[in-house]
Amino acid sequence: MRFRFPASLALAACTLMSFSAPKPPIRAAEAPVTWSRQIVPIVYHNCAACHHPGGAGPFSLLSYADARRRGQQILDVTQSRYMPPWLPAHGYGDFAGERRLSDEDLALIRKWVESGMAEGNPAEAPAEPHYDATWQMGKPDLILSIERPYTLSASGADVFRNFVLPYPLAQTNFIRAMEIRPGTPQAVHHSNVLIDRTASYRGDHPADWKDGIPGMELELDGGNTFDPDSHFLFWKPDTPVLAEPSGMPWRLDPGNDLILNMHLKPSGKPETIDAQIGLYFDDKPATSHPMLLQLDDDRDLDIPAGDRNFVVHDELTLPVDVDVLGIYPHAHYLGHVLEGWAILPNGQKKWLIRIPGWDIDRQSVYRYRTPVFLPRGSVLHMHYVYDNSAQNIHNPNSPPIRVRAGNRSVDEMAHLWVQVLPVNVPKGSPDPRLLLEQAWMEHRVRVQPGDSIALYNLASAEAGLGEDAQAADTYRAILRDHPNDARTLNSLGAVLDKSGEAPGAEQSFRHALAVEPEACDPRFNLASLELIRSQFRDADRDFRALLEHCPNDPAAHNGLGLALAGEGDNASAESEFKAALALDPRNFTAQYHLGEIAIALGRPQDAIDPLSAAASENPGDVDTRERLALAFAQAARPDDALNQLREAEHLAPNNAEPHALLSQVLAAAGRLQEAIDEQTQALRLEPQDADGWNNLGVLEARNGKPDAARVDFEHALQLAPDDAQARANLAQLPPH
Ligand code: HEC
Repeated sequence: MRFRFPASLALAACTLMSFSAPKPPIRAAEAPVTWSRQIVPIVYHNCAACHHPGGAGPFSLLSYADARRRGQQILDVTQSRYMPPWLPAHGYGDFAGERRLSDEDLALIRKWVESGMAEGNPAEAPAEPHYDATWQMGKPDLILSIERPYTLSASGADVFRNFVLPYPLAQTNFIRAMEIRPGTPQAVHHSNVLIDRTASYRGDHPADWKDGIPGMELELDGGNTFDPDSHFLFWKPDTPVLAEPSGMPWRLDPGNDLILNMHLKPSGKPETIDAQIGLYFDDKPATSHPMLLQLDDDRDLDIPAGDRNFVVHDELTLPVDVDVLGIYPHAHYLGHVLEGWAILPNGQKKWLIRIPGWDIDRQSVYRYRTPVFLPRGSVLHMHYVYDNSAQNIHNPNSPPIRVRAGNRSVDEMAHLWVQVLPVNVPKGSPDPRLLLEQAWMEHRVRVQPGDSIALYNLASAEAGLGEDAQAADTYRAILRDHPNDARTLNSLGAVLDKSGEAPGAEQSFRHALAVEPEACDPRFNLASLELIRSQFRDADRDFRALLEHCPNDPAAHNGLGLALAGEGDNASAESEFKAALALDPRNFTAQYHLGEIAIALGRPQDAIDPLSAAASENPGDVDTRERLALAFAQAARPDDALNQLREAEHLAPNNAEPHALLSQVLAAAGRLQEAIDEQTQALRLEPQDADGWNNLGVLEARNGKPDAARVDFEHALQLAPDDAQARANLAQLPPH
């Protein structure tokens, strides 16, 4: 707290002050602006990331001599805000790493250039930033390289090329950061990395994937599991490391491919593109799951030659609360004003981005400094204006020609990707990303009713949300236009099966197989259906057929194993479960059934290892604990059996079975009173169990309590009057 002077003293102090000698006022205009004192900090902070030797800029600006030589140019490009390059308008979204000189910086640069560009005292300059070619975050956990270096010719048009980098590891990893080292940064304009979950792109290009495949944009087959794109894996030479927020790593599974989609610019001499991707692992999987939504209006892109104001628009209503984390607007050369905003349920407009002068060469992903909250019911808007006149300096056609949507750079695009993280998700509600997917695909189907990809994704989201009848209808809608689409037939079969319509499911799987006899999914589903119906012979035949075409599927070996066990051939079944384990050593189903078969074949010793492995793979599974306890009990290890059963009781406190089993093991060990207590507990949980009452009676009788035993046997007979065992036991009791 400040001390307060009495009024008179304060006055005295003022009087005193006026006695001090007047100093000449310091006038800002006269302070010399020097490179070393005021300009170096501005340049290092705002320009050097690109303007250093080997950087993305065309020349270095690190030294006084470099900067002085280009003084006038620097003045021009900074005053016009052409440099540093930054497309979004200030104030329409608050972005991390915004590249923008303040008005004070601009004034200092002007003064420095206009006053003759003095160097000043070099000792006052901060240390020069250091740029080198090593990995920015230290040695990556995994480095992937393109298979064959690619030679970019010295001149000619830009090249768009896709390099496939298979993920070589046998286990899943979570990626917290990625760095791309293109080999020749000056020739690589930007890159996108796509995750090909099903290696579909490599499969479509078996002959040439090692050399890279030309193409600007590509569509990948996402496979059957709902696994939406979640992260912007967009890279430019000036932003080397893509680090994800904590708790949000992305995932790579065995069999995935990364696809490096590169935009290359001839540099005047031939360049070798020998790109590497460095990956940094997280030790934990993601705890938050963002999702990329895409607004687009390619369908309306048909831009007449000379049109300066061609507008397209798209919108999407959010079904859940989200935090917007980042945004990526995309058009080609005719895009001019690109805008994205949200209208909140209360009518308020919230800007997400505004790019008043689009330039495809400066496209970028923008991440918000702090996430932008949008409550459910908010409507995302994309609003793009295209300029197809000769005045547009980026127009690739002279004179302008009519331009439509397409994948080549001379075609156009209207996309706005938004990275959202669902928030405020009520406990127990379905995966909010499924709701986002559903809303998004419903919208796409509304604007383009025949869009079968959107319909398929919509149906899969509905199935994921448990709306099976709706999903079946949506799949059927696809089949009206594409009656022989094997994948849709298979998916329809799967939802029918899930909703208990086995005959319809079977018909659908068979139809899919008639169209594509070697397809794996419908064959697997048909065989599984037969297995559930105990049609073991049919299941046996279909799993074998499946293994012929898809030999490396552990689930197919497990299925065949179950079919064989059903047919009574335990020995053959055992070798199928072993085959599944050879493919996937941690396969729970195979471990569990190997144990079960060993018990059935009277080899409890052999059951212990696989069942223990199954229990550690799936520690919460009560059934596995019970089997393991049985194996221990039969192998004369009662204490281990007791431990497993106590664990099972703990896992399922309301399940009578572990208590009943525990009672038997205790009885076998001669611990009668404890056995009686456990059986009593089991009956408290399941009082209608006639066998249980009979068992309790036997224990009471052995424990010398014939009266208690009599009550129990009578109870058993009340519940099951035909229970011969209980009747015989009752008859053996001494008369009372
Ligand atoms: C994100 C990377 C990046 C940053 C940051 C950056 N530049 Fe550039 N600069 C470039 C690139 C790339 C070019 C050449 C292509 C172009 O004109 O866009 C360039 C070109 C220039 C030019 C030549 C312009 C012309 O008309 O030929 C000047 C001068 C320049 N930059 C100055 C600066 C200054 C000063 C800063 C900081 C205030 C800066 N740059 C920040 C990437 C950058």
